Amino acid sequence: MNIMKVMEERHAVRKYQDLPINDEDLKRLKEEIAQVNKESGLNIQLILDEPKAFDPAYGHFEGVRNYIALIGRKGENLEERCGYYGEKIVLFAQSIGLNTCWVGGTYKKIDNVLEIAKDEELVCMITIGYGEGHGQPHALKEVSKFSNEDPNQPEWFKLGLQGVRLAPSAHNEQKWHFFYDEENGVGKVDARPGIGDFAKIDLGIAKYNFEQASGKDSSIWIK
Ligand SMILES: Cc1cc2nc3c(=O)[nH]c(=O)nc-3n(C[C@H](O)[C@H](O)[C@H](O)COP(=O)(O)O)c2cc1C
Repeated sequence: MNIMKVMEERHAVRKYQDLPINDEDLKRLKEEIAQVNKESGLNIQLILDEPKAFDPAYGHFEGVRNYIALIGRKGENLEERCGYYGEKIVLFAQSIGLNTCWVGGTYKKIDNVLEIAKDEELVCMITIGYGEGHGQPHALKEVSKFSNEDPNQPEWFKLGLQGVRLAPSAHNEQKWHFFYDEENGVGKVDARPGIGDFAKIDLGIAKYNFEQASGKDSSIWIK
């Protein structure tokens, strides 16, 4: 499926059907997570059939039995990398008919479920399963609110911004900024987080969407 369509169709889903993930979907999801862990060096874990972390008495989720824990070694850029690679998994899940929701706060860490080494940290979670419905579109910021878009910039930058616009963020705040710049005549992008608890995760999510929508790779980012 076209990646923009996948981004457009993805919405936060907080209520799930009481169904296990079928064998075929599960196989593909596990392969995707293994591939992401290999590429990123993160320790992302898929937890199946564990209903306590998202007990409805605790948060506003219903029927969550499966989730993905974004875990990695503490250090520079961990949050942004979890955002980036978590979004890769979220869009993959969406493309095979699974629903998701990013969760930074409203979950409970259950003893003896996650394997977190001393030098690692749990950054956030993603619920996953077959939703009761596919969620709803939310108000999205205009690109002019978070970029310096102008008509003379290359098409790939404008496409990238459309991907950013569709990216999920904590409280739907979309506080990031994406500025077009040129270094020695080569188009580059300066991507900056907003301020707030989840701003760096949000930035990683948005950068993944930008790359996918623009067709560019990580060489466009100004460090
Ligand atoms: C880093 C991050 C943390 C989030 N934390 C929570 C959370 O703790 N509880 C929750 O219900 N939703 C959480 N969300 C989901 C957002 O509220 C949701 O993505 C946003 O409102 C945009 O809606 P959409 O995903 O349908 O586009 C989080 C999203 C992100 C990206």
